[in-house]
Amino acid sequence: MKDILTAPFMVEMIRTTTNMYDHGWDERNGGNISLLLDEDEISGYLDTGKVLRTIPTGFTAPELDGKFFLVTGTGKYFKNVQYAPDVNLGIVRLKDQGQQADLLWGYSDGGQFTSEFPAHMMSHVARMKVNPENRVVMHCHPANLLAMTYVHTLDEREFTRTLWQMCTECVVVFPDGVNVLPWMLCGTNEIGEATAEKMKTARLVVWSLHGIYGAGKDLDETFGLIETAEKAAEIYMKIAHLPRINTITDEQMHLLEKRFSIQAREGYLD
Ligand code: 13P
Ligand code: ZN
Repeated sequence: MKDILTAPFMVEMIRTTTNMYDHGWDERNGGNISLLLDEDEISGYLDTGKVLRTIPTGFTAPELDGKFFLVTGTGKYFKNVQYAPDVNLGIVRLKDQGQQADLLWGYSDGGQFTSEFPAHMMSHVARMKVNPENRVVMHCHPANLLAMTYVHTLDEREFTRTLWQMCTECVVVFPDGVNVLPWMLCGTNEIGEATAEKMKTARLVVWSLHGIYGAGKDLDETFGLIETAEKAAEIYMKIAHLPRINTITDEQMHLLEKRFSIQAREGYLD
């Protein structure tokens, strides 16, 4: 067996958690990531027949049976992942209609996957139906997006339009816009179900007064998605209290649609 710490998916996960911490998006144990893995990808690094222990998930998701995920641990700090990956990360395979997860590697201090596992797994199910290439669900607490939910209407069209107007390429990076949930209790199946419902129509879901969820085909792309939205929110927070003299018009956004062959969410542009 090859050393699992050298596996490309592991190296990328460690880089990503470190980078997210460095961006200030993941204070303390804030944030969590789940990455869907192919059996082929892990078989050279791990005996998939060897189960360390089985952890109940508390929800049902039959679509995920037999699927492998690399997931950040609950209560673990992104800051520390690079120094002790086997404590802070785990690889699980779901079974029994998604109600149980076999631990194959990691959580070596007896820990388990993130408390937001329901939101992650339910979001994977939702995004896979939209795009079978989706492999990543990422949650974090970027300051400007969070700040924006205190001072901006939570209307999804308005919230999206504001972000699109903050940087020319926002509409290109997230043409589906941003869906928004009101404050809800985190770590529950209810917020998981609500997040997954919102994931049906957009790859970004804001949790008001808490943070954001992003979904994408790989860690880099999903990071870039959140990074772009957070940058837009940062600009908003810099200018929200100032008179606005210029803006990106809807007409200009239509030009961007043509130039980049993208379609802004139906009804979001005039
Ligand atoms: P976990 O430590 O359980 O991943 O929770 C962090 C978090 O951001 C909760 O929303
Ligand atoms: Zn959180």
